[in-house]
Amino acid sequence: MAHHVNAKPVGVFDSGVGGLSVLQEIRRALPQENLLYVADSAYAPYGEKASQFIEERSIAITEFLISRQAKAIVVACNTATGVAVASLRARFSLPIIAMEPAVKPAVANTKSGVIGVLATSRTLSSNNFTNLFNRYGADVEILMQACPGLVEQVEAGDLMSEDTRKLLERYLAPALSRGADTIVLGCTHYPFLKVLIEEIAGPNVSVIDPSPAIARELRRRLNNANLLSVASDAGFDQFWTSHEPERVESVISQLWREPVDVWSMADGGKKQL
Ligand code: DGL
Repeated sequence: MAHHVNAKPVGVFDSGVGGLSVLQEIRRALPQENLLYVADSAYAPYGEKASQFIEERSIAITEFLISRQAKAIVVACNTATGVAVASLRARFSLPIIAMEPAVKPAVANTKSGVIGVLATSRTLSSNNFTNLFNRYGADVEILMQACPGLVEQVEAGDLMSEDTRKLLERYLAPALSRGADTIVLGCTHYPFLKVLIEEIAGPNVSVIDPSPAIARELRRRLNNANLLSVASDAGFDQFWTSHEPERVESVISQLWREPVDVWSMADGGKKQL
């Protein structure tokens, strides 16, 4: 019986393709787990949407993942975490793992005492982030930078273009000119821009991606609940979207670095059977 539950998948979601950066780390840390990923692409980006709407989408997607047998949920989106994690935890009893901007490791890392946090404006104005700011803001200077347009660049698979570079140069300039030596990626889309960010910031700046810590936290939580997969074979990855699959299949394949099939949440995966 226990094995039956352990074989169930982990459900992971984001407004779009950004959470694939978290999914990659989960796949690396937990090779035997079956993974379901939902890109809510019909409604991306979340950054400028009303809180209540993001909360409703988070609940609907969690219900969908549970209907597909999910044994745990990873909210691979900082914006949805900030707005909806409390109501998800109040509503659902399965383990829910969520994002937190990596301010704590950044504070431990900085030597200049200045760190920059890149995120959506909704994340930066969330209670979660305000709490982090209040906890650490007395020790170091925390420069917050909202980055409109970056999520769209990643959704378009545009990771290295001149336009993307110009946006990043603009968003990094204030922190770099104040001597930041540590940059926190506070949105799950941004790790896909890490190469470009490191190139612009130069070798003396550390760029911190919280995804490996989220994958470790998932492993810890599954282990505590006796839910880790006991399979000896590699798990599967299954990709879902609220959009038409054809519209996102190529960017998901690009970011996942192998061709994948994407299923429509609307037809419940009938196509697959
Ligand atoms: N990946 C989401 C995050 O981590 C992007 C938010 C959005 O869709 O604006 O915040």
